[in-house]
Amino acid sequence: MANATLRALRADITRLAVDAIVNAANSSLLGGGGVDGAIHRAAGPELLHECRLLGGCKPGEAKATRGYRLAAPVIVHTVGPVWRGGSNGEAELLASCYRKSILLASERGARTVAFPCISTGIYGYPIEQAAVVSVDAVRATLEQTPDVREVTFCCFSEQDLSVYRAVLAQQAE
Ligand code: AR6
Repeated sequence: MANATLRALRADITRLAVDAIVNAANSSLLGGGGVDGAIHRAAGPELLHECRLLGGCKPGEAKATRGYRLAAPVIVHTVGPVWRGGSNGEAELLASCYRKSILLASERGARTVAFPCISTGIYGYPIEQAAVVSVDAVRATLEQTPDVREVTFCCFSEQDLSVYRAVLAQQAE
């Protein structure tokens, strides 16, 4: 992982001044509720125009757009798995979202990247399990992306933040 920093904070991801933010989208990429809705509202209608050209996105995959009115110049849209009990490939798909989002952000020149807690809202993935999968996937991927210096796990609730703090502390050397 070279010397990249992993941090967790409680914030509205649309307000973060990082190089790339990740959106927890659905496979249409045409907007929705939760963080997806917040990102589309904050970025403005040009984002939907660009998303219409992308032809959707499969679970576990990622596609990038500009950030428009956001401070972040790049948005990486990824589609997390819907939680169906945990034995339907959910962890592999969630890890793939984090891995492919970092790789794409890095290709777009990002040195700082922020993630929401993908799949843990409307899609129902338990936060404790999602946090472990995401931290492991990010750490492994950072081995391949030496230009990425900082990854932020952007939590929307105090409870999610305490889960991430515990996972990051456990895994710190
Ligand atoms: N900043 C950071 N995190 C946020 C924000 C925000 N502004 N708003 C919500 N969250 P969800 P999913 C948190 O449901 O489970 C959409 O309709 C939220 O509290 O947004 O992957 C898509 O179009 C939760 O912790 O995403 C899909 O249809 C986390 O973001 C579907 O929801 C993810 O919750 C995707 O469901």
